[in-house]
Amino acid sequence: MERSLSMELVRVTEAAAVSASRWMGRGLKNEADDAATTAMRTVFDTIPMQGIVVIGEGEMDEAPMLYIGEELGTGSGPAVDVAVDPLEGTNIVASGGWNALAVIAIADKGNLLHAPDMYMDKIAVGPAAVGKIDINASVTENLLAVAKAKNKDIGDIVATVLNRERHAGIIEEIRTAGARIKLINDGDVAGAINTAFEDTGVDILFGLGGAPEGVIAAVGLKCLGGEIQGRLVPSNDEERERCLKMGLDVEKVLYMDDLVKGDDAIFAATGVTDGELLRGVQFKEGYSETHSLVMRSKSGTIRFVEGRHSMKKKPLLVMQD
Ligand code: FBP
Repeated sequence: MERSLSMELVRVTEAAAVSASRWMGRGLKNEADDAATTAMRTVFDTIPMQGIVVIGEGEMDEAPMLYIGEELGTGSGPAVDVAVDPLEGTNIVASGGWNALAVIAIADKGNLLHAPDMYMDKIAVGPAAVGKIDINASVTENLLAVAKAKNKDIGDIVATVLNRERHAGIIEEIRTAGARIKLINDGDVAGAINTAFEDTGVDILFGLGGAPEGVIAAVGLKCLGGEIQGRLVPSNDEERERCLKMGLDVEKVLYMDDLVKGDDAIFAATGVTDGELLRGVQFKEGYSETHSLVMRSKSGTIRFVEGRHSMKKKPLLVMQD
């Protein structure tokens, strides 16, 4: 993949973030998602690549934009798998909460797991604890392993967990082990990525979230030298059937190379609302300001990009009511 593709992808996530952020706190999550998707789709068309959506907004027969199998890009340039989440955290934007992102992950064609839209059990850490976690081990064992790897007491460790009833057991075990918890209402891509940045104050992510989000987080953590392990968790027979048809073994632990193969992948995200790592979009006089993260696994380069977008010259980036 061309190095310059990284910056092109930031243009895509910036456009999605600005468009979605106009819906912040308005209680309309579908409108926010539509705005992000429309903006993302439009900018993708200008990018020199032969992309195929492998993780997107839905199946072709549901007729969404950015459906699975949709071709993206100008049709010249590298052939890549594309995973999009135009708005990661639709409820976050609707309620004006924390950590909503517009996010894209790409890898050479055939290298991203085509994760079905179901739950995935996940455990994720940053570089300091790579090789020390095990999704088959208990929560307590993993907390102790991360504490040891980071030379901390268990009471210093902070685990991120989605605040869901299904996680009551995990939360209880973390508390009993003496570690601390950051409960998040949504957004486990940010939850996973944050484990790789010391300043976010979180060390490990546990729990069930979307499988597509698991693949996107895996690309981010591959770029950062971190680790995520996952296991698909079908909720019913239909989902189990779907896994069978796709040749996916629901018992199998999915390691980094199962989620994203190879060493060349790119992750780009722009903050829609404020988070620990990225500021959300701000509207100033005549322009909007964005804060993005773009990373490439091959080079290991991590860039934070600040953008200022003229509202006059970029009509796409004004509200699409
Ligand atoms: P959306 O942006 O699709 O609303 O997803 C937000 C999210 O919190 C993800 O980050 C997470 O993986 C998933 O939803 C968790 O699903 P659920 O809300 O069903 O627990």
